[in-house]
Amino acid sequence: MELHIATNNAHKVRELEELFPGTRLRTPAQSGISFDYDEVEATFLGNSLGKARALYDLIRAPVLADDSGLCVDALGGAPGVKSARYGSPDGGRTVLSAREKNELLLREMEGRRDRSCRFVCAMTLMVSEHRFFTVQETCEGLLLEAPRGGEGFGYDPVFLLPGEGLSMAELSLERKNRLSHRGRAAARIRSILGSLAALP
Ligand code: IMP
Repeated sequence: MELHIATNNAHKVRELEELFPGTRLRTPAQSGISFDYDEVEATFLGNSLGKARALYDLIRAPVLADDSGLCVDALGGAPGVKSARYGSPDGGRTVLSAREKNELLLREMEGRRDRSCRFVCAMTLMVSEHRFFTVQETCEGLLLEAPRGGEGFGYDPVFLLPGEGLSMAELSLERKNRLSHRGRAAARIRSILGSLAALP
């Protein structure tokens, strides 16, 4: 089976490839399509559906879309849906590096006792124009006071998994995929994909 994925983010692609073994995943770039969805919706769900629909309209073949980010309780849920553009000085045209975003986040959180936060992933499988499935999953954690670890991407180095005693960036890809928001959402989509064979 082949799914077109609504992202060119190399880190996400790598994780998704591990999460969907036996499924051929094609990025927009691999299909020769320039795809840059403007994340205008207020929710992960809205952006996930929006990305899936935008790519489906271009490709007219089954699509998988992921919209994800980090929500920090003490910051009212920020960076949230703006995780990719957090701290951008011009509303998103210039994007800070992951290291800059993490530094900014740690500064904003300086002295705050409530460090609870979660990664969120809304994943959409769009099979055809009016047939789609969206799931949303989370991974609960605590915001660290300093970055740790060199694996993963984005906010992984500042995200502590209390049950593991490790940051997300200290986990192997396999372990991250077992525990993460994306891994949990993908498991649900895999089971929907499996059920489609029984209920075509
Ligand atoms: P988007 O889903 O393309 O809007 O981007 C999500 C942004 O959230 C990424 O650019 C990262 O900054 C962050 N993010 C999403 N998933 C992860 C993850 O698994 N680890 C660390 N950061 C993540």
